[in-house]
Amino acid sequence: MKNKIIIGNMKMNMLYPDIMKYIDKLKDKKLNNVIICPTSIYIPYFLNNNINVGIQDIYMKDNGAYTGDISAVQASSIGVKYAIIGHSERRFYHNEKDKLINLKIKQAIKNNIIPILCIGENIEEQENVKVVLKKQLDNCLKNIDRDVIIAYEPRWAIGTNIVPSNNYIKDIILYIKEELKYKNKILYGGSINIENINTINKIKELDGFLVGNVSTKAEEFLNIIEVVVNQ
Ligand code: PGA
Repeated sequence: MKNKIIIGNMKMNMLYPDIMKYIDKLKDKKLNNVIICPTSIYIPYFLNNNINVGIQDIYMKDNGAYTGDISAVQASSIGVKYAIIGHSERRFYHNEKDKLINLKIKQAIKNNIIPILCIGENIEEQENVKVVLKKQLDNCLKNIDRDVIIAYEPRWAIGTNIVPSNNYIKDIILYIKEELKYKNKILYGGSINIENINTINKIKELDGFLVGNVSTKAEEFLNIIEVVVNQ
């Protein structure tokens, strides 16, 4: 059994009272390898309860007139240790490109935040998946001289309840490992739930998981964590 990482990406979900109940259910559990990425305004509540926290995005500047954005310096100053960067929803809704993602990764590293870089192909790119992923890796990790966490998330598997076969995931993970200079941890993300985690968790090349929607449901998320930690 290796020390797998489990990231919960809560996205733009949950209201304050739900967050309080959620934290109550999690706060006394052993969550050493779990990183919760709530909507940014809720981050301090998690930190105050000693839960590892990541931020869902950072801006690529330190500070200034950038209304609505949050910098890595700021996140780091309240104790955030991880940042999701380049999530496919940011690429899609905010038109984020690899070049910007590369700047954000550098900004995170400069501020002692561990980047969680998301990469993945969309449905049309499936035939050329390896070419697509190589380009994303080369561009996003350009001039970055250390390992970062990689989350492989096929875009067609995010929020769709469709997951690739174990063979598909394994093949891609081995390919990504081959392409990287460092011994990065590589996670899988996309429609993970309590029904499929036992199967996906059998892929021994994986270093963990990024769980989206289901991470907002405390009991189900705790069940997933248990499967991953104990198997
Ligand atoms: P999902 O999201 O688990 O809801 O598919 C995954 C993600 O946030 O990337």
